[in-house]
Amino acid sequence: MLRAGGHPPETFQVLATQRRRRCADVPPDQRPKGPAENRWPLRCGWRRLTRMGISVTPLDPADRATLDAVYRTAVAAQAVDEPDLPPPCRRRFEAPLWHPMPGIDARWSVARLDGGPVGWIRLYLHTLDNTENASVDLVVDPAYRRRGVGRALHEHGLTVLREHGGKRMVGSTVTPLPGEEHRELPGAAFAAAVGARPALADVRRRLDVTTLDRSRLAALLAGARATADGYRAVRWRDHVPEEHVTDVAHLEGRLLLDAPLGELAWEQEQMDAERIRGVERALDGRGVRRYNVGAVHEASGRLVAWSQLSFDASSVRHAWQQITIVDPAHRGHRLGLLCKAENLAYALSHEPELRVIDTYNAAENTHMIAINEQLGFRPVAGSTDWQLTL
Ligand SMILES: CC(C)(COP(=O)(O)OP(=O)(O)OC[C@H]1O[C@@H](n2cnc3c(N)ncnc32)[C@H](O)[C@@H]1OP(=O)(O)O)[C@@H](O)C(=O)NCCC(=O)NCCS
Repeated sequence: MLRAGGHPPETFQVLATQRRRRCADVPPDQRPKGPAENRWPLRCGWRRLTRMGISVTPLDPADRATLDAVYRTAVAAQAVDEPDLPPPCRRRFEAPLWHPMPGIDARWSVARLDGGPVGWIRLYLHTLDNTENASVDLVVDPAYRRRGVGRALHEHGLTVLREHGGKRMVGSTVTPLPGEEHRELPGAAFAAAVGARPALADVRRRLDVTTLDRSRLAALLAGARATADGYRAVRWRDHVPEEHVTDVAHLEGRLLLDAPLGELAWEQEQMDAERIRGVERALDGRGVRRYNVGAVHEASGRLVAWSQLSFDASSVRHAWQQITIVDPAHRGHRLGLLCKAENLAYALSHEPELRVIDTYNAAENTHMIAINEQLGFRPVAGSTDWQLTL
């Protein structure tokens, strides 16, 4: 959700910086169950939860054994729900405990069934903007599904959200692409069962770098450079050069004005140079390697377009294509293609083992999808952002 061009789950809380997924859509004529469904534990009673042996408590960061077990559930779930993605990076997975993103208060709780950890919820409360919104990751170990653990975690999340004064919860599930309706993906059925509504359809596209036609990439790049007369490309790794940080904050902050949001009630994020530096520190803490290319408008000296690719610390073969954005006043010069293609070449020259790049786009983001298709990205999974309004 808010994957702004393709962020892995945990980053997305930052800006439009991103999200997760799984399941079958609610048929159009079937009304999702309403708030009464949300009161399930009250209707059915916590006594039932206790009887079922489910408890949900905040994660204690000092409890390494629980953290290990929780990480194992994340690995097991990903292997079932998104088997084509690499296992979650351990360093990134636990980083919210040690390196919080600016503007995000992450509340992490663990579900235990008869004492053993079997699932978890991370609720990201937004503190600088979107203060009535929370984004959520909720995962149950595949071996313990359909026993009410997901509901118990969800109810716990609702309690935390209410205590915080929040009004909306947004989470993502994997959904089938056309022709894949047979895939069993429980997330969407679960989201509908707890009363969330589908708010935005995304598609994950993948570039198989092993089949990348490098001469075609060079030709695309040459064409983009020819059309981008009056602009020059600049590269940087993890930290944006000081002279461009204000422009990067401006671009990142306006992303939500440009990216299709569907029914998501998400306001423009308050981005400034200080927050950009805070995000960089948090990503450094996660060990995320970043490759960036921007386009500078030579007449004004302003950075007016920008694209980023990132690698988890645990990954040399897989990368995420993250944000790509062009200032509206500078569109029509192929700056999006220029930044993306130039950045791909930049990353490839430093990451010789790179094999696969994934990215998310809103299904209706036709301009960005056209650029990605030109570069060779192809659909591999659907994703739906669900919104639950209290
Ligand atoms: C979605 C997920 C959290 C559900 O966890 P769970 O513990 O199996 O959920 P519950 O047992 O509490 O199920 C609650 C309700 O969701 C619906 N549901 C859950 N899984 C379902 C499935 N496979 N098929 C149909 N309905 C399903 C049902 O209505 C169920 O109620 P019921 O069992 O009384 O019929 C789990 O499958 C998971 O971790 N999936 C991957 C991550 C994900 O998609 N998370 C959700 C978005 S953040």
